[in-house]
Amino acid sequence: MESIAAGQKANDLEAYWMPFTANRQFKENPRMIVGADGMYFKTSDGRDLLDGIAGLWCCNAGHNRPRIIKAIQKQAVELDYAPAFQMGHPKQFELASRLAALMPGDLNRVFFTNSGSESVETALKIAIAYHRLRGEGHRSRLIGREKGYHGVNFGGMSVGGMPANRKMFGSLLTGVDHLRHTHGIAKNRYSKGIPSHGNELADDLERLCELHDPSTIAAVIVEPLAGSAGVILPPEGYLQRLRKICDRHGILLIFDEVITGFGRLGTPFAVNKFGVEPDLVTSAKALTNGVIPMGAVFAQDKIYDAFMQGPPNMIEFFHGYTYSGNPMACAAALGTLDTYEEEGLLTRAAELSDYWQQAVHSLKGLPHVIDLRNLGLIAGIELEAFPGAPTKRAFEVFLKAYEAGLLIRTTGDTIALSPPLIIEKKQIDFAFETLANIIRKLE
Ligand SMILES: Cc1ncc(COP(=O)(O)O)c(C=O)c1O
Repeated sequence: MESIAAGQKANDLEAYWMPFTANRQFKENPRMIVGADGMYFKTSDGRDLLDGIAGLWCCNAGHNRPRIIKAIQKQAVELDYAPAFQMGHPKQFELASRLAALMPGDLNRVFFTNSGSESVETALKIAIAYHRLRGEGHRSRLIGREKGYHGVNFGGMSVGGMPANRKMFGSLLTGVDHLRHTHGIAKNRYSKGIPSHGNELADDLERLCELHDPSTIAAVIVEPLAGSAGVILPPEGYLQRLRKICDRHGILLIFDEVITGFGRLGTPFAVNKFGVEPDLVTSAKALTNGVIPMGAVFAQDKIYDAFMQGPPNMIEFFHGYTYSGNPMACAAALGTLDTYEEEGLLTRAAELSDYWQQAVHSLKGLPHVIDLRNLGLIAGIELEAFPGAPTKRAFEVFLKAYEAGLLIRTTGDTIALSPPLIIEKKQIDFAFETLANIIRKLE
């Protein structure tokens, strides 16, 4: 069979139903990646593509990293799989301990999943079961936030707040409500770093407490920084205020750190950055540098302890996945943590963030740019939508950037950038110069 690189026929692309992709557009003009190394992808037509989004916010150490590759190769020969239930293998315990050591305070217990979506489902189930175990089974309501993204399974979709991800899928979970979102460019336009206005939006939780009665609410889940809805930053003091209200009413706070985890903001987690300790934290993606699917949920000791009751031979939590703590995934994660540690990557974004911020805001004043947002090594570049055709303008930038050797991501009319944390200054320059040239020529 002819290889894709040599020009496969369009028909050969038909079987695969691609996720979150314009399938017909893609299959007309395929964009194939056939290799990756360091900061670059290699395309099937032989071009280098600067990875401006760490794969999908997951390859924080860049690509083709020797520590990770060696760890996987060794593991495949030594132990390919071990049953996840009623059996263990040493790397699960080693990994959980190393992860817990990255977290502050009481976030010392780690449950393994295979993705961000599964981490979210797991955290929501833990929250509801925790209250029941404490004799507060009436607390089953879940609160998410408008514009939130918590993956694509039913729990995450229900607490999520992106209309396109919800509208096709029926009535979703019952007993869910949403806080107002914090996207306020009227007051915060062109903020550098954390925006100063809007922490009072946390008080929206008081409105929901009044409406539903706090005794019915199990947990609130938010992304400390919302990525998928277009890089929406928490206003100064917002997360702290949310924590206080949760405490006042006995509500658990869950941070969804699937994209903010593992150095993206210049600290190991957003928890460290904002100095707010939630009860549960979800993670995935950069946990294994994206190399093997894996997620992890961090729980405070008090939560784990609440489950550890009843006869000791009984299963305490009726939940888990065939691949929870899979040996290959654990090996990849340990190799990833070694790489992060050796290269100081969990704090490198802090060293680069001033340079990055300057580069992001160099786009101010270009046609159609209506806001610029940044934190750590994340940027959101919001464009004015093409009249009558939302998303068209940003998608055009995506296609032109691809042609020019830069991979970006778009959501709505916002361009999101989140490069591997190994990026060099000259590559930052290339990314923003490329974008400026494209945006300047937009219709
Ligand atoms: C905050 C957040 N939660 C959950 C998810 C879902 O993760 P996954 O695609 O691994 O299921 C994502 C994915 O982008 C995310 O950004």
